[in-house]
Amino acid sequence: MIISIFVPQQIHDRVSCLGLSALNNVFLKKNYMSAAAKVYKRVTTNALIEMKASGTKISMLTAYDYSMAKAVDAANIDVILVGDSASNIMSGHETTLPITVDQMIYHASAVVNAVNRALVVVDLPFGSYQSDPKEALRSSIRIMKEAGAHAIKIEGGAEIKDSMVRILKAGIPVMGHLGLTPQSIYKFGTYSVRAREKAEAEKLLEDAKLLEQLGCFALVLEKIPAALAKKVAEAVKIPVIGIGAGGDVDGQVLVLHDMLGLTTEFSPRFLRRYMHLYDQMTTAIKQYVKDVKSNDFPNKDEQY
Ligand code: KIV
Repeated sequence: MIISIFVPQQIHDRVSCLGLSALNNVFLKKNYMSAAAKVYKRVTTNALIEMKASGTKISMLTAYDYSMAKAVDAANIDVILVGDSASNIMSGHETTLPITVDQMIYHASAVVNAVNRALVVVDLPFGSYQSDPKEALRSSIRIMKEAGAHAIKIEGGAEIKDSMVRILKAGIPVMGHLGLTPQSIYKFGTYSVRAREKAEAEKLLEDAKLLEQLGCFALVLEKIPAALAKKVAEAVKIPVIGIGAGGDVDGQVLVLHDMLGLTTEFSPRFLRRYMHLYDQMTTAIKQYVKDVKSNDFPNKDEQY
C-alpha cells in the first residue's frame, strides 16, 4: 500500500528559512518536491517505479536473517534482497551455485518476519528455473508462499524469457539481473567487469528492454561500465539498481556484510565500507575471553 502524504508546512518551513533565490531553486527542483511529498509506509513495486519517475534514488541491501533484517528495515531501506550471496556469506561457499530453494526459503522467511517497511525480494537460486518454465514457476510459488516474499529476482535475459513469462503470468513480481550474473561464473571464468565489448553491451541493452517489455518491475545491473548502465537506465522506465555500475542509475545495492566490513577478503573498487565490523567484533570477543579467563565476568551485578 502506498500512502501519499502532502506536507506543505514542511515545504513552507524550509522555504522561509532559505530566502528568495533559494525559494526558486526549491520549486524548480522537481526531485525535492516529489521526495518531500511522498512517505512510503510500505514499499511496493509501484512505489519503486514512482521513485524512478520522480528522481528519488532507491536504496537496497541484502539480508539473510532476522536480526540483521530488523536493523536494515529500521534504517528505512527501500528494498531488502535475500540474495543467493547467502551461499557465500552465510555458508562460506566459493560461489552462489550450491544454495538450494529450501535454504533460500529458510533465509527469506527469517527476513520477512523482521520487516515492516521494505520490499523483500528473494533470489531464485541456480538450478531452480533454468531447465523449464514450469519448474521456474514452481520454485517462485514456493518462495512466495513458504517464505512470504514480495517478489523474486532472476539472473539472465532472452535465454530465460519463457520462465520469466510463466512467472509473471502467475502474478509474481520479477526483478531482473544482468551484467555480471554470479550464477554464470563458470561460463565467465572471472568476476571482472562485464559488457566492455560492443556485442555484449548491445545484448545487455536489448535484454534490459526485453525484461521491461515482459513486465519486470526493476532490474539489477552488476559490474558493468558506468556509461552503459546510464544508457540502460535512460532506455527503460523501470528502475535500474546498480552494483558496481556507477551513479547514473536509479538506485544502489550492496551486500550488507561487505558494506559493514564483516567480510574482509572481498574488496572490489565499487565497495564502500561504512564500518569495520569484523575488527570491532573480534576486539569485543577477545575482551570477553579475557574477562572470563580472569574471572572478571560475571561480576556481582551480573548474577542472581
Ligand atoms: O545475491 C546477491 O547478493 C545479489 C546482489 C549482488 C545484487 O544478487
